[in-house]
Amino acid sequence: QGLIYRAGVLGHRPSVPADFAELERRAASAMSPRAWAYVAGGAGEGATVRANRAAFERHQIVPRMLPGQAERNLSIELLGRRLPAPLLVAPIGAAGLVHRTSDLEIGAAAAELGLPYILSNQGCSSMEDVAATMGSAPRWFQLYWSTDEPLVDSLLARAAASGAEAIVVTLDTTMLGWRPQDLNLGSLPFSQGIGIAQYTSDPRFQEIVRARVADKAAQAAGGGGKDDVKVTVGALRSLLSISREHPGDLRTNLRSPTPRAAVETFLDIYSNPGLTWEQLGTLRDRTDLPFLVKGVLHPDDARRAVEVGASGLVVSNHGGRQVDGAVASLDALPSVRAAAGPDLPVILDSGVRTGSDVVKAIALGADAVAIGRPYIYGLALGGRDGVRDVLANIVAELDLTMGLSGVGAVSQIGPELLQTTS
Ligand code: FNR
Repeated sequence: QGLIYRAGVLGHRPSVPADFAELERRAASAMSPRAWAYVAGGAGEGATVRANRAAFERHQIVPRMLPGQAERNLSIELLGRRLPAPLLVAPIGAAGLVHRTSDLEIGAAAAELGLPYILSNQGCSSMEDVAATMGSAPRWFQLYWSTDEPLVDSLLARAAASGAEAIVVTLDTTMLGWRPQDLNLGSLPFSQGIGIAQYTSDPRFQEIVRARVADKAAQAAGGGGKDDVKVTVGALRSLLSISREHPGDLRTNLRSPTPRAAVETFLDIYSNPGLTWEQLGTLRDRTDLPFLVKGVLHPDDARRAVEVGASGLVVSNHGGRQVDGAVASLDALPSVRAAAGPDLPVILDSGVRTGSDVVKAIALGADAVAIGRPYIYGLALGGRDGVRDVLANIVAELDLTMGLSGVGAVSQIGPELLQTTS
């Protein structure tokens, strides 16, 4: 943080605003209406998006003076890895709406800071391509559990082979939430081939698509083929027009056997609304990587996750994008922590915007936080540097907040640092 202030004194021009409100305002005007609707939007009337923020505001830090420590130690250990700060980069799908080479930029920025990047299953570059830009920097892979079990295995194997250090299974999105901003525009990114690069680069997925294409061809040969051809041509046209805006996706899509079949197949199999805890438990035998579950808000679910072998939890309501009216993530944290016991890694996301928020989340029981929308706004404004600077600003503010609150290390942040108003 000292460096950031010094750079300011020396006339450094920041790539992104230092406060979230201005960051969001500027990003809103830099993004297309469609990208903005998708990224900023929440479920329903936005009650949970607001609740996430309100929860942070109900807690206040009571700073303590003169701890007699000139330096802070922000580092933590998570799943056996030492991290420079208690921050992770949350998985965000379809970020190609915002920047042509989104996931590569995000990966490079995360690597520069040494903060783990949780690659989305709905990414816009294959995990192998992202890995190539990240070198040995830490990364995890977020899985949506497909209805096709061999595809689950294939994604797990690729994640391990490309250097992911953990799997994060997202439980809260077995179906997409009710998202009026997207629905009103009538176009979801995935239905147009944006955010399916982990699939189109997957050998098992390609096999499924080829089989479907062959089926369709056989049906068409048996009559009624003309309609099929019309549908395919129409879909190809819309894919190509989308892809003119997003050449990264064009490459991705054209690599797959047929774009339309790939998109259709993706929509049919990307997640499994019937997934059970028992199925989740099979992960233990299917990968050597530790797995965490994301989207836990109830203490009983925390206990079940531990029972089936989870190595950690992500307390999250998906940034308020799934269940409108769902409990604020921060409000769910203390009871989840109590159920998980003191030692299980617990990460919190949804609504974290500042270094001060990070202190509050840790005080209430998190080991670390994951950041979502803020870094996408950085991506919109400054590409790779924008992502890096948004994350670096949060780390810098965390450092200052700790120092000015009398805390010398992350492990010293506890509930006694907070006062809560109802
Ligand atoms: C997400 N999130 C998400 N989560 C996940 O597990 N897989 C995914 O592909 C996505 N995609 C996604 C896209 C967009 C545009 C957003 C905003 C969010 C949820 C994400 O990981 C995280 O839980 C929230 O973003 C955290 O909330 P904040 O920080 O955005 O308020």
